Amino acid sequence: MILVTGGAGFIGSNFVLDWLVQHEEPVLNVDKLTYAGNLNNLARLQNDVRHQFVHADICDTEAMLSLLNKHQPTAIVHFAAESHVDRSIHGPAEFVRTNINGTFSLLEATRTYWSLLQENEKQVFRFLHVSTDEVYGSLGLKDAPFVETTAYAPNSPYSASKAASDHLVRSYHHTYGLPTLTTNCSNNYGPYHFPEKLIPLVIANALCGKPLPIYGDGQQVRDWLYVGDHCTAIRRVLEKGKPGETYNIGGWNEQTNLDVVHALCDMLDTLRPLANDCSYRAQITYVTDRPGHDRRYAIDASKIERELCWKPAETFNTGIKKTVQWYLDNQAWVADVQSGAYMNWLEKNYNQRDGAMDTHII
Ligand code: NAD
Ligand code: TYD
Repeated sequence: MILVTGGAGFIGSNFVLDWLVQHEEPVLNVDKLTYAGNLNNLARLQNDVRHQFVHADICDTEAMLSLLNKHQPTAIVHFAAESHVDRSIHGPAEFVRTNINGTFSLLEATRTYWSLLQENEKQVFRFLHVSTDEVYGSLGLKDAPFVETTAYAPNSPYSASKAASDHLVRSYHHTYGLPTLTTNCSNNYGPYHFPEKLIPLVIANALCGKPLPIYGDGQQVRDWLYVGDHCTAIRRVLEKGKPGETYNIGGWNEQTNLDVVHALCDMLDTLRPLANDCSYRAQITYVTDRPGHDRRYAIDASKIERELCWKPAETFNTGIKKTVQWYLDNQAWVADVQSGAYMNWLEKNYNQRDGAMDTHII
């Protein structure tokens, strides 16, 4: 059995679904079910005995240790985190709690569990920490993409909390010999992506006739990877990665935000044309920029390509087509996650902010 944290979130649920197609090994899915966690993402596993869900908080070291002792996993894939930069600007405390303290608690529980394993079990055990390219900070337009040795320079409370967790993971390998692996991936997109992040927000707003908010001049660059490709990369790192190493994951696909929104509008114009012959592009609205907005992220994925023979299967065009089609086919999922807790939070917090956030209501 493997233990997955945050397996009800966007990437975690894609990973669990994909893992159980590729493997017989069962999954213990540990998730606190914050606004971003949704068990409906895993509905197709309802009758699959290989998937066990546990509602728990990674900050609870005792609960984590007792789960480890009871289920004896051969690996941990750690996704659980607070993941949205705008939320981290508004309220960093939860990011420090889950991303830093939570990773620390999980590492402590893992260290205790791992230290008592038989020598051969200790050797095959893996702790894979899923992280982001945002820990490297912001690139200038002419800078080379991030490599694994690029110095950390996180700029947002989100990226700072992820950087801290990466350092803790590194130290547990260096100090205690825990067989850790860290992956730093670029921006993901695809099914089950919560509609607060750029791509799902734009699709959801476009379909409701709402504004498509572009922060600042829209010339910020992100390096987009289809979530299914991220999942195959994580499986590859788990199987073939060298303990103590870090691996950058990306698909060499840099795009400005404006180009991404144009691509989404054009795809929607094809797949769900508006009755009046207008383009969804007419809904684009420029809004106040995000404070401290990183200008450019870009991943050099040479190491994982060379050492682990991994390459993404999707191009941006095929990935965007699949994603837009998924949101068209799953509008009930969007309505569901937009109701309840998330909308309450949004109303309470974003209404108090000016500029970007006013237009940001979904
Ligand atoms: P998400 O916000 O969609 O999901 C996070 C999941 O973690 C949710 O299911 C939530 O309920 C759970 N969770 C939060 N706090 C918890 C806690 N204290 N205990 C247990 N569970 C908790 O996030 P995501 O986009 O799927 O990202 C997953 C991981 O991948 C994160 O670590 C993130 O930093 C990293 N990452 C994300 C991207 C991206 O583009 N989304 C890119 C690179 C790396
Ligand atoms: P986001 O999806 O929040 O990911 P991240 O901040 O982790 O890169 O944002 C992607 C880019 O899109 C980022 O440069 C901010 C920008 N953005 C907008 O222009 N409008 C929006 O409504 C959102 C959510 C993001």
